[in-house]
Amino acid sequence: MLPEQRQRRRIVVAITGATGVQIGIQTLLALRKLNVETHLIISKWGAETIKYETDYTATTIKALADFSYNSHDLGAPISSGSYKIDGMIVAPCSVKTLAAINAGICDDLITRAADVCLKERRRLVLSVRETPLNEIHLRNMLDVTRAGAIIAPPVVGFYTHPASLEDAIQQMVGRVLDLFDLDSNDFTRWHGLKDNI
Ligand SMILES: Cc1cc2nc3c(=O)[nH]c(=O)nc-3n(C[C@H](O)[C@H](O)[C@H](O)COP(=O)(O)O)c2cc1C
Repeated sequence: MLPEQRQRRRIVVAITGATGVQIGIQTLLALRKLNVETHLIISKWGAETIKYETDYTATTIKALADFSYNSHDLGAPISSGSYKIDGMIVAPCSVKTLAAINAGICDDLITRAADVCLKERRRLVLSVRETPLNEIHLRNMLDVTRAGAIIAPPVVGFYTHPASLEDAIQQMVGRVLDLFDLDSNDFTRWHGLKDNI
């Protein structure tokens, strides 16, 4: 059989039930603009939070992705390391999903796909959202970092003087995509104090 020829980069996006689901939605939209093939998983509480925080529903968000999966579908292609992907972004990532990934519990497709990323040495970015952080959260973040994940919490870059929440979210999304060498071209980069005062 011929080796798989892929033209487009392939990234898994997971939205879990932490506040800030707009970050996951905007990540999906930015990847779409960059012609990256997206594989979407939304957890049960991710779907509830989407309904509560936005005008989207899980169904309308799924339409923005190339492929979407039920979070219980452990038979999905992204459940296996033999299915080639370039990495995975969990945004926002609840501390429950963080804990499950750190414990290696693969009882849903989000935690299984994340586990696969780590074992295959693929990029895994967790946009963990919680405040304040207790010792369990901090330990889990340190341990998954040691296992190869990148913790990139959704924090505001005040130095960019965001005029709106949308600006702040674009900055967060842009910085996460930077971790995949993808340039969203949709946020302000720092060019030194001289240019900024
Ligand atoms: C509106 C809303 C906001 C929430 N915000 C957070 C949050 O910021 N961080 C967090 O870790 N959990 C948050 N939770 C709790 C999670 O949804 C809950 O722990 C759930 O079990 C996470 O499961 P999941 O990771 O499979 O989506 C929130 C729940 C709701 C309903």
